[in-house]
Amino acid sequence: MNATDFIVARDDFQHCKFIETTIPDATELPDDALLIKVDRFAFTANNITYAVLGDELKYWELFPAPEGFGNIPVWGFGEVIASRHPSIAIGERLFGYFPMATHLVIEAADVSKRGLRDAAAHRRNVAPVYNSYARIGGDAGFAGRQGDYQALLRPLFMLSFLVDDYLAENEFYGARCVMLSSASSKTAFGLAHLLHGRDGIKVIGLTSASNADFVSSLGCYDEVVTYDNFQSLPSDVPAAFVDMAGNSALREKLHRHFGDQMKYSGRIGLTHRSSSPDEPPLPGAKQIWFFAPDQIRKRAKEWGPGGIDTRFSAAWSGFAPMLDRWLTVTEGRGPVAVREAYLDTLNGRVPPHQGVILSL
Ligand SMILES: NC(=O)c1ccc[n+]([C@@H]2O[C@H](COP(=O)([O-])OP(=O)(O)OC[C@H]3O[C@@H](n4cnc5c(N)ncnc54)[C@H](OP(=O)(O)O)[C@@H]3O)[C@@H](O)[C@H]2O)c1
Repeated sequence: MNATDFIVARDDFQHCKFIETTIPDATELPDDALLIKVDRFAFTANNITYAVLGDELKYWELFPAPEGFGNIPVWGFGEVIASRHPSIAIGERLFGYFPMATHLVIEAADVSKRGLRDAAAHRRNVAPVYNSYARIGGDAGFAGRQGDYQALLRPLFMLSFLVDDYLAENEFYGARCVMLSSASSKTAFGLAHLLHGRDGIKVIGLTSASNADFVSSLGCYDEVVTYDNFQSLPSDVPAAFVDMAGNSALREKLHRHFGDQMKYSGRIGLTHRSSSPDEPPLPGAKQIWFFAPDQIRKRAKEWGPGGIDTRFSAAWSGFAPMLDRWLTVTEGRGPVAVREAYLDTLNGRVPPHQGVILSL
């Protein structure tokens, strides 16, 4: 049986193509294996970051591709079309991490009522979250437009949730304002939405001129400042910086502007893909990568079983209703649409109010 995969050259992301691969049909599947039809998936700048960090964080190992190429992981939905696992029926729907492809074979393990894990040997080097699939059945929260929001935002909002929790737990390191770069990104506005509810903290969105109106319209940032206007920020107010853009020049300017008043500087993303490998030492707080699994481990221990899920669900319930107003979901179906959406995202041509959902 044939599947179609979308792959990108690891050393030149502008170079991408479709290939046909051979996958086992129902009669050839090994014991416990599932054949999944990849149904719909979201695509945002976060997926481009998976490609940028593909070697370093082993994302390229998840969905093997021919030498020199990689298959970018995406969050979305799949349907079981053949099953050799006694507890998983044909027609089941799964939510999780998929390749940009028409099909995926999963070696189902740790099957419970709520989910399962792909135990394929080549997937063992990544964090467990990337190998888990939720069995969503008829859950209305994962159907229709709500399902699109889950694919587009749930994994990003988990990061927003963890950063908000981490900063609050550390009393914002004494900062009275939190600046977010790439404020128009979904991860940033999810975080801004949460920070907006924190007393005594001013939430400042840093963005490009073309996205400033969108960021202002959200209502979760107290102030919106374009990148070229950072000097307008009062440098005597203790500040925290949460960096989604990964732009070395911007980070340097902000650190020099705030000096010792830069109380926290956390690196999250790389939307601008302009990080220099040798950044000079900067005044103010040391820049550190925010490592989500550390905060998850800490809170799992402190909050006990289900503690993170309960709190995250409550936060999601407050956030999801905003999305009807903040986002317009656009759907692309078929190889031409997928290639175009990929290149538009790679080259920063997707307007921030758009949530891209794709299907091959
Ligand atoms: N560390 C983690 O665990 C973790 C978890 C979640 C997300 N993240 C990271 O957070 C970042 C945001 O992800 P997202 O999916 O939320 O993004 P998104 O919604 O797709 O963000 C779009 C915004 O990013 C900026 N941008 C995107 N592509 C660009 C390009 N080619 N050139 C210049 N600017 C570009 C623009 O914002 P501006 O004009 O406002 O700059 C654009 O409006 C990603 O780097 C992602 O990997 C990290």
